Parts: sequence; structure tokens; C-alpha cells
Amino acid sequence: MKGLIFVELMNFMEEQFGELLTDEVVDAAAIPGDAAFTTIGQYPSAYASRLIGAAADRSNASAAELCRAFGRYLFCRFEVRFPTMIQRYPSARSLLMHVEAHIHEEVRIIYPDARPPTVTALEVDDALHVVYRSDRPFAHIAYGLVDQCIASYGEQSTVEWCEGNDDSHARFIIRSLHRSAA
Ligand code: HEM
Repeated sequence: MKGLIFVELMNFMEEQFGELLTDEVVDAAAIPGDAAFTTIGQYPSAYASRLIGAAADRSNASAAELCRAFGRYLFCRFEVRFPTMIQRYPSARSLLMHVEAHIHEEVRIIYPDARPPTVTALEVDDALHVVYRSDRPFAHIAYGLVDQCIASYGEQSTVEWCEGNDDSHARFIIRSLHRSAA
């Protein structure tokens, strides 16, 4: 997985837990090179799972909750790192409809070694269904990314984690609170 995701994961940990606890997490996760990740590097995605697992063991949050919180943080970082890619979409819905065809496709062009997950969206009645598929187990990170995408556009919608979801294949159902109230 791209180093930039790991760099952001370490920043997130330091912000959440402080430097001391983060050092402890890195030791416990036994990451080679003391987790000195670079944005251009490539690292096994299992390192991220190990870091999140070790952090969960030392906090009140579960690994799933930490992944979701990291997903929210990561979307904010994507807004800083890739502003033009995000600002072209006028709404969360339009962004989410184009993750597969535009955003992750552009990521593959910028970083030929990138292997982003499949994130498709379809409109079903008044709801938007976003489906995540990956060979990595990061559906809860995807959940947080979707949450923050909606929050960043100032929209008020619920994001439902569907029963039967697993870590590598998940569906989120997004319903606008304004529409359902109308
Ligand atoms: C809000 C909708 C989005 C979702 C649900 C999503 C989901 C994810 C997830 C969960 C990953 C981790 C790798 C995996 O699970 O296989 C990932 C990787 C990535 N995403 Fe997205 N993403 C979204 C939007 C974006 C945006 C807006 C950008 C940038 C403008 C972006 C750029 C990337 C990059 C650079 C990677 C790393 C790929 C790699 O390691 O090879 N994503 N995405």
C-alpha cells in the first residue's frame, strides 16, 4: 500500500495518542525500520493492520472504530494533498459517484504502483449505495472516508453500515436527512 497512507496513519496516531504511546504502538507492532515511512514508499498493508491492532490494544477504541476515525482524518488529508481532484465535485454525492472512474483512476496515473480499492456508487431510490471491495481489509477506513466526505460538504446524511458487510467487501447506504424530512 502507498507510503502516503502510512505517513498519514502515523500522523493520525500521533495526533490521537501522542508521541510516547505511538512509539509504544510501533514497538508492539514490530514494524521494520521503526515505521519511518516515506510518502513514495510501498509497504505491506499488514503493517497498517498491525499498527491499528496494537493501538486498539492500548486504547478504549476497537480496531474498527480506530479505522473509521482514521478514514475521517484521511479524507481531510486528501483535501489538502489533492485539492483540485476534490474541488471539482460540487457535492458529496457527485464525488462518491466518481471515485472509481475518476479519482482512483487518476491515482493510478499519478502513482503507477498504486492499487486503490474498487469503490462504486449507485443511486437506489432516494439513497446512494457505495460499495467497497478490496483485497485489503479496510472497509472501516472506507466507512470513515465516506463519513468525512459528507461532513466536508456540509451535508446532513446518515451513512449506514449494512448487515453482512465484511472487512474487504462492504456496502454503505447514504440517505439525505433533508430529503427524508421533506
Ligand atoms: C470518499 C470516497 C473514498 C473511499 C471510500 C476510498 C477508499 C479507499 C480505501 C479504503 C483505501 C485503502 C486501500 C484499500 O482499502 O485497498 C484507499 C486508497 C487510496 N485512495 Fe481512496 N477512497 C476515497 C476517496 C479518495 C480520494 C478523494 C482520493 C484522493 C483524491 C483517494 C486516493 C487514494 C489513494 C492515493 C490511495 C492509496 C492507494 C494504494 O495504496 O495503492 N481516495 N481508498
